[in-house]
Amino acid sequence: MQLTTTLTEQIVQNRIREVGINPNYWYPVGWADRVKPGRVIPVTVWQQAIAVFRDDGGRLYALEDACPHKGVALHKGEIQGCHLLCPYHGWEFNGMGECVKIPYFPPEQKLPPAKARHYPVREKYNLIWVFPGDATLADSTPLPEIPEYDDPQWLGVPIPAHFRAHFSTCNENTMDVFHGFLHRGLQGWFDPVLLNLSAGDNFVRADYRVSYRGLATQFLGISDRGDRVTTKTVSIGYNYPHYCSSLEGLSSIYLMRLPVGKVETRSFSYLFLKLPLPQWLLKSLKPQLTSLIWRFLFKRFLDQDVEMVESEQQNYMADPQRKYLEVNPAIIALQRTIIKQYELFLKSSPAETNGQGDRAYSSRATMEQQERKGA
Ligand code: FES
Ligand SMILES: [Fe+2]
Repeated sequence: MQLTTTLTEQIVQNRIREVGINPNYWYPVGWADRVKPGRVIPVTVWQQAIAVFRDDGGRLYALEDACPHKGVALHKGEIQGCHLLCPYHGWEFNGMGECVKIPYFPPEQKLPPAKARHYPVREKYNLIWVFPGDATLADSTPLPEIPEYDDPQWLGVPIPAHFRAHFSTCNENTMDVFHGFLHRGLQGWFDPVLLNLSAGDNFVRADYRVSYRGLATQFLGISDRGDRVTTKTVSIGYNYPHYCSSLEGLSSIYLMRLPVGKVETRSFSYLFLKLPLPQWLLKSLKPQLTSLIWRFLFKRFLDQDVEMVESEQQNYMADPQRKYLEVNPAIIALQRTIIKQYELFLKSSPAETNGQGDRAYSSRATMEQQERKGA
C-alpha cells in the first residue's frame, strides 16, 4: 500500500516499546565460523535461552538452555561426538534434545522421557539462524536473500552491534534517514527528503533522496569527486524482522536483527561496497580493508547511533507514560508493522502446545497473551 510522504506530527504509541516479536521467522544468533566443532555457546532469542552447539562432525544444533533433569544451563556442558553432556550429572542429549544416556544407570535400565526443546537451526552467510517459533513453519519460512554475499565484485564488511534498548527503538534508527544531523562530523549524508513510502503487514519500504560530500564518499565509490555534492536515492526495505537497504546499486546494507529481551537487542549486518579498486587488489587487501572500514568508518557511525538509541530507551523507562512526537511517516509505518506482526503471532498461537510438545513455545505465547490482556 502506497502511503503519503508528507511530514506531519503524530503521537507515538507507547505500546511499541513493549511489544514482543513474532517468533515465526528466522533470527541470527551468531557468526558461524566462531562456533568450531565441539563448541557450545549460549544465545538468547527474545528471552528464550538457547544452547547452540556444533558436534564433532560439524553439524549445528540448538537446544533449550535448561537441562530437563534439574534445569542447569546446558551450554555449560561439553560435546562428545554428536551429543551434548550436561555438566551436572552428565546426562547425555542428542541434537533433538532427547536424553540418550544417564551415566549412572545400568545399561539395561530404561531411560526416563527427559527432553530439552530443540529449535530448527541453519547456517548461511556465515551466520547461525534459529527459528524460535512454531517449528512446523520453519521449512516454509525463507531466510533473507543476500545475493551480494557470494559475488566477488562486492566487498562485504561484517558489522556486529549491541544495544541496551527495545528492538523497536533500534529498528526506528535504521529507518530514520532524517538523523544525518547526528553524523555530520563523520561526512554522513545531508538534506534528506522522503520520496516514496509503501507498507504492508510484513514490510515497509522507503526511498529517500540524500546528499553526500567529502573524501570518505569518494573512497566508498559513492562519488567521483569528494569536493562536490552528490545526490543519490537510498532505498530502505524493512522485511520483518530484518532490513535490506541499497544506495543505487553502489552499496547495500543487510541488517539482521536479534531481539534479545525487552531492553536488549543485537544485530548482525553486512555492508557491501563496490570499491573503485581492481579485483586482484580488492581480493588481496580484503582483510585489511574490511577491518579499516569497520574500525575507522562504520563503527564511529554506529557508536553515535547506539548512544542515541540507549538514551531514548532510558528516558522511556524513566517515564513510560510520557508522549513523544514523530513526524516521519516511515517511522509510523514501521511501528504499525512491528505491532501487526506481534498481533498476528498472538492470534496464531493458541495456549495449547503447537503439536510438537513445545512447552517453551506455548508457555511464551500464553505469557505474552496474558501480559497483553493485563496491559
Ligand atoms: S541437571 Fe543436568 S544432568 Fe542433572
Ligand atoms: Fe545512524
